Amino acid sequence: MTMKAVGWSVAVVAVIVAGWLMLRPGAPGAPTAPKAGLHVPRLSGAALEGERLFAANCASCHGENAGGTDIGPSLVQRIYAPAHHADLAFRLAVRNGVRAHHWTFGNMPPVEGVGTRDVDRITAYVRSIQRANGIE
Ligand code: HEC
Repeated sequence: MTMKAVGWSVAVVAVIVAGWLMLRPGAPGAPTAPKAGLHVPRLSGAALEGERLFAANCASCHGENAGGTDIGPSLVQRIYAPAHHADLAFRLAVRNGVRAHHWTFGNMPPVEGVGTRDVDRITAYVRSIQRANGIE
């Protein structure tokens, strides 16, 4: 093979590998557009308290009604359903932050000043919105 042919082969393999990395299941997805028009159920108890806490601490990235923004994903989608991200995932995310792995928004930093009890209220709120939009 000539050097030129070798160069082309390397380029073709690189493109195939890059394509596979991007398309394989579970690869970081492109940011999804914020969701408008989410159904917000009547909230009470922990979920109602969680709504206020979410607005103050999470909505800047995760959006109004957890519908997402251009810097953070909507939490109202199937991959954040309880079977995929249990309530413990919320506690860990807030305490330790999240290394970007599902999307290309970047990392989530730890959120200061939101304790476990408050995270559980926020989780109750997010679960209420998920259920109201068919995500269980
Ligand atoms: C500075 C922006 C930002 C703030 C503020 C923020 N998040 Fe995040 N969060 C992100 C990003 C970006 C991701 C997605 C990371 C990935 O998987 O690519 C994420 C992911 C998550 C996840 C999924 C965790 C996992 O294991 O995949 C949960 C749960 C979460 N956030 C909850 C919260 C809660 C609750 C708050 C408020 C207390 C909050 N976030 C505040 C940016 C933020």
